[in-house]
Amino acid sequence: MSKVRIYTLAKDLGVDNNRMLQMLDELGVSYKSASSTLDEDTVETIKGLIADEQANGGSAAAPAATSSTPAAEAEPAAAPSEPAATADASDDGVPHRAPVVTIMGHVDHGKTSLLDYIRKTKVAAKEAGGITQHVGAFEAKTSKGKIVFIDTPGHEAFTTIRARGANVADIAIIVIAADDSLMPQTREAIAHAQAAKVPMIVAINKVDLPQADPERVKTDLTTVNLVPEEYGGDIIVVPLSAKTGEGVEDLLEYISLTAELEDLRADPKAEFSGVIIESRVDKQAGVLATVMVQQGTLRVGDFLVVGEKYGKIKAMTNSNGDRIKEAGPSTPVQILGFSEAPTSGEKVSSAKNEHAARELVASRVGERRDAEAARQNRKLSLEEMMGS
Ligand code: GTP
Ligand code: MG
Repeated sequence: MSKVRIYTLAKDLGVDNNRMLQMLDELGVSYKSASSTLDEDTVETIKGLIADEQANGGSAAAPAATSSTPAAEAEPAAAPSEPAATADASDDGVPHRAPVVTIMGHVDHGKTSLLDYIRKTKVAAKEAGGITQHVGAFEAKTSKGKIVFIDTPGHEAFTTIRARGANVADIAIIVIAADDSLMPQTREAIAHAQAAKVPMIVAINKVDLPQADPERVKTDLTTVNLVPEEYGGDIIVVPLSAKTGEGVEDLLEYISLTAELEDLRADPKAEFSGVIIESRVDKQAGVLATVMVQQGTLRVGDFLVVGEKYGKIKAMTNSNGDRIKEAGPSTPVQILGFSEAPTSGEKVSSAKNEHAARELVASRVGERRDAEAARQNRKLSLEEMMGS
């Protein structure tokens, strides 16, 4: 028997991933993440423990922390309806949120095609005649729940957003064409994801091509220290075709699985915070900004502060172009109400009313001026010291 990944074992045994990690902790088994592999002995021990637990009709080895949740409720198996991303609250009351996924990779390796395929098959079609608005992110509905994709040109957005200190993406998909393998921008994308400490999933695209060589891609990955799981490593590699759709469902499944392991949560009742994904000026509508809600809930009429500017939400649309009144965590929304276009990557916060918004802006302006003055003073005293 070869090595087994932690989450695979959890799935096979019908145990919650977190429960599995907890058992390993109790056993003193060290692991890096739930995608780490276990040796045969550990697998057997775990199997024994689970069997004991089930024989005892519940949580024999479960510590008090988890026993408050009945085992049967811990992981709803194949819920008939689509599970709502915010429905399952944890013990401490902070609900799960949908994962935010970014697609990166070399030119022409099929990033847009992959997103198009997902959007086409997983996003409710707009009624004919509706204006197709470009929103830099969209929500896909899968059997495993909602997944949010950031649909902006490659790693440009990823890096500008990150350069401003905001991490919007929870998972990065590195797209590699099966007929081209690793290219300069592939390496760059991998480096970006690693720097951001965002888990990666490799999608080997274009497997429909006769010259496709997915095995070569896997071997090449090992040269940059990304060892595919079938070679005993930690990297999930999904062969697929954005053209035929083969393998795309698997990718969505792996995204959901990775998200589950990341245990992503956000409180819709907390104070709002978000990030500007992109913005543009529409000749008729004015400034349209796409905001990713990261925490809290946005409502039409709220006052938003971005840097040293503020605005009031006049209208809000979701990625499907529907008008909405409020939006919770992991929801990309297009907002009308800024007087100037904010830059992508800027952090967005909200204020109770216009007065509070103005005060926040004033305090930021004040802080910036103080910092500038301090810099100027340091420069002057340095010059004095030098006797100039
Ligand atoms: P840039 O945005 O320029 O970096 O490219 P991209 O990565 O978005 O690639 P894009 O989706 O534009 O695809 C590039 C070319 O590859 C297009 O001609 C696609 O039709 C083709 N292509 C993408 N995916 C597949 C696939 O799975 N199979 C085949 N045969 N062709 C594909
Ligand atoms: Mg593209």
